[in-house]
Amino acid sequence: MVSLRPRRLAALSITLMLTSMTMAACAKQDSGGDHSATDGNVVHVVCGATEDWCAATTEKFSKSTGVKADFVRLSSGEALARVKAGKGSPEFDVWYGGPADGYSAAGSEGLLEPYVSANAAIIPDAYKDPTGLWTGVYVGALGFCSNTKVLAERGVAVPQSWADLLNPKLAKEIGMAHPSTSGTAYTALWTQVQLAGGDQTKSLEYMRKLHPNVLQYTKSGSAPAQMAARGEVAVGVIFSHDCVATVEAGFPDLQVSFPAEGTGYETGGVALVKGARNPVSGKKFVDWALTTEAQEIGPTVKAYQFPTNPDAKVSDKVVKLPSIKMVTYDATVAGQAKSALNKRFDAEVAQAPKS
Ligand code: G6P
Repeated sequence: MVSLRPRRLAALSITLMLTSMTMAACAKQDSGGDHSATDGNVVHVVCGATEDWCAATTEKFSKSTGVKADFVRLSSGEALARVKAGKGSPEFDVWYGGPADGYSAAGSEGLLEPYVSANAAIIPDAYKDPTGLWTGVYVGALGFCSNTKVLAERGVAVPQSWADLLNPKLAKEIGMAHPSTSGTAYTALWTQVQLAGGDQTKSLEYMRKLHPNVLQYTKSGSAPAQMAARGEVAVGVIFSHDCVATVEAGFPDLQVSFPAEGTGYETGGVALVKGARNPVSGKKFVDWALTTEAQEIGPTVKAYQFPTNPDAKVSDKVVKLPSIKMVTYDATVAGQAKSALNKRFDAEVAQAPKS
């Protein structure tokens, strides 16, 4: 027995060593590790704004800070899926642009690292998460983007309400994205929830009524602006600034209108990804995205969202938010409901046969 002791002790210490190594590996897996010491002076951005804005922003960030930057443009739902796929070994350091409800959904799944930038102090409370899960960089209002020529051919006036979109004369004449992939479309869906006093079932009832009029649910939220511009549909349900940008791109027949019942809006976010490989650079990006320098880039690339930094210059092409009737839009609540509501949309609306 005496002779077995050292062996038992050795076996025990090997077991303990293996256990602690496994625990360390798990801890690393869970947190993604602290990579501050090995930060590569580079930031990999998953970007939900327009391609041009993502390009201009990353380029200017690099010029201003000396930190290299690259980006992949993805719609909100796709960005969330990619950040989720990278959990434990993230592909991206920061998420920039796209509605904050996507960020809130990511936060609920432990995919974001709370970071309260010193520069966030100036951003109004309505446009940031108090724990620093995400901070708003722009605000945009949902609206209708109508091709007035197509509407005139159909004998239909420019829609002024959600009810107007249900007009049978607009059968297959409406373009809208799918809320599972697009933050724009999820904003439209959550707007219906708000208009129905929080009743998700009623919001889906409206979407089911609208369904026969929807030609196609696109992947990206702004795609219906192009469809309306080409006359493939009469009306796109999109963020109004995407319609203004398309008019500027050479489609003067497009016209923006807002629904009288009230419309939803997005707060475009910025956030640090949990376990980011380059957290020091990632934080620099978040800090910089809140500055006036960053927030004045939009209009130079036809992106006319409202800046969240009150000191940033506002282009006269930016919609006057107080002139529109808005629904209450809490991105945190909307984000928490996102996954389940989108599943219901899949099952109860998008899969339904078109009449
Ligand atoms: C466009 C808009 C942004 C919006 C984004 C959402 O890029 O200009 O304001 O945040 O669409 O994209 P998604 O494809 O997710 O609807």
